[in-house]
Amino acid sequence: MDRNEQICNCMGITRGEIEDAIKAKGLKTVEEVGEETTAGTGCGGCQPLIQEILDEING
Ligand code: FES
Repeated sequence: MDRNEQICNCMGITRGEIEDAIKAKGLKTVEEVGEETTAGTGCGGCQPLIQEILDEING
């Protein structure tokens, strides 16, 4: 996966930033990712992608 892929266009957050936050903080939900990185807190359209990343990392 490309860590530089921009996942959240509203906030300009990349896959790598989201992955690192999930791993560093043990994030479990889209809401927690939003609180930590701001990803998903704009239009909300990227939230399914954030959920996919959560699933990839947390299983
Ligand atoms: S693209 Fe992430 S909140 Fe709009």
